[in-house]
Amino acid sequence: MNLQSADELQPFDFVLFGATGDLAMRKLLPALYFRHCEGQLPEHGRIFGVARSDLGTEEFLQRMEQEARPHINEKEFQEDHWRMFLSRITYLKLDATQKNDYRALAAELSGHESRVRVFYLSTAPAIFTAICEGLKDSGLITPASRVAVEKPLGRDWETAEQINDQLANAFKESQIYRIDHYLGKETVQNLLALRFGNVLFEPLWRRERIKDVQITIAENLGVEGRGKFYDQTGALRDMVQNHLLQLLVILAMEPPVSSNPDAVRDEKIKVLRALKPLVGRDALENTVRGQYKAGVYSDGKVPGYLENEDVPDDSLTETFVAIRAEIGSWRWEGVPFYLRTGKRMVDKVTEIVINFRQVPHSIFDTVDGFSTPNQLIIRLQPEESIRLRIYVKAWGDDMNLHPVFLDLDFNDVFKKRQLIAYERLLLDLIRGNPTLFMRRDEVAAAWEWIDPIRQAWQQSPQPPKGYTAGSWGPTASNALISRDNLSWHDED
Ligand code: BG6
Repeated sequence: MNLQSADELQPFDFVLFGATGDLAMRKLLPALYFRHCEGQLPEHGRIFGVARSDLGTEEFLQRMEQEARPHINEKEFQEDHWRMFLSRITYLKLDATQKNDYRALAAELSGHESRVRVFYLSTAPAIFTAICEGLKDSGLITPASRVAVEKPLGRDWETAEQINDQLANAFKESQIYRIDHYLGKETVQNLLALRFGNVLFEPLWRRERIKDVQITIAENLGVEGRGKFYDQTGALRDMVQNHLLQLLVILAMEPPVSSNPDAVRDEKIKVLRALKPLVGRDALENTVRGQYKAGVYSDGKVPGYLENEDVPDDSLTETFVAIRAEIGSWRWEGVPFYLRTGKRMVDKVTEIVINFRQVPHSIFDTVDGFSTPNQLIIRLQPEESIRLRIYVKAWGDDMNLHPVFLDLDFNDVFKKRQLIAYERLLLDLIRGNPTLFMRRDEVAAAWEWIDPIRQAWQQSPQPPKGYTAGSWGPTASNALISRDNLSWHDED
């Protein structure tokens, strides 16, 4: 699974729908630029920016200067590489619903049928069908074509199935790449390495040794300019159905027989199917939803969610979710998995905490009474690190043990720039490796688990619990975990 050199990648045509949009400018185009700088895009790789705006290529490139370039750290920016990268790009105006508009694209792609062809739909799902039909009717889908779509795929199981059916009308399942950018994060892949490239953890990775697992994706930002989208989406759909469940699944899956994409994905889906359903009362008792109120950060006051101009005054959309989940399997029976995510929390932190059980019989005292036994903390953000908390005897002291950390900061080890998750995924897309993309059955299984939670919330008279911006979420989230006599890692 190396990031390959340009020679190993075939020449490609990368068609980016929604090229003027936020995701394209903030992440996708900078990610391609970085791969270009690393010499990983073959010389003849072409990029077509496609969108409705009536622009010429020159104007589009100017936009990129203003909107994409600021997302490339000054230290990593190289003017000559940037110029070369821009020379790969052609902009085409295209209204996805107008069949005639595909002609210009067809003319550009004509004569290059044997190349890898990527259609990246960085657009609202509402126009996926139109794009797929337009591509199909214009004869642009070759055997070497693939299509990439972003999460959240649908609003629930039913709408996700509809989108998947529409994609399947134009593309084979093996050509469809469903993106969850969390899978492109280096530390998520390192989780696979940690578990399946070492013998150390596997014997401990089970209910007999693990007391609980906590996965937190906290963000300090609010919904920024995305109020309209977010209000119709909420944290459950935006973060839990995809990013949080993907982290949980990678953490909990059985060892696959090989690194073959389907061998890995076959194991992932078993975990999703083994998640105990949270329906009706169970859903209400094992989840907390919250909505942020105004609060203060060190750099000033921020308004509450309802003060956002794109959000209705009576919105019940959740900006925070905490869930106590369980996996029904021999390995995990009875181990609570706590999932938590929210906007406007204390800080931007993504971490996985695995709390191990106490020693069965203690012959030593400890300074903290073994309040937190061994703990493995895997951080994805802000820094990428793995820390293992163990007890040691302090020098010169009695056998009164102290907790210390074995610390691995990937930045110190590899001394490299932290990659944008999309860099990995876009390269995998071009070379046709679907391991880090979601299969149709995975998306469906995730929605099947999520939908009853949403339904229970809708039927409940309880609104989301308020929490102050800059906090760790509603107090009910602490109450949820303290029922098991546990606490969130940040409260330790
Ligand atoms: C996106 C969500 O998928 O992930 C956003 O739509 C969220 O709401 C973002 O802010 C978080 O991604 P990251 O990589 O910054 O943790």
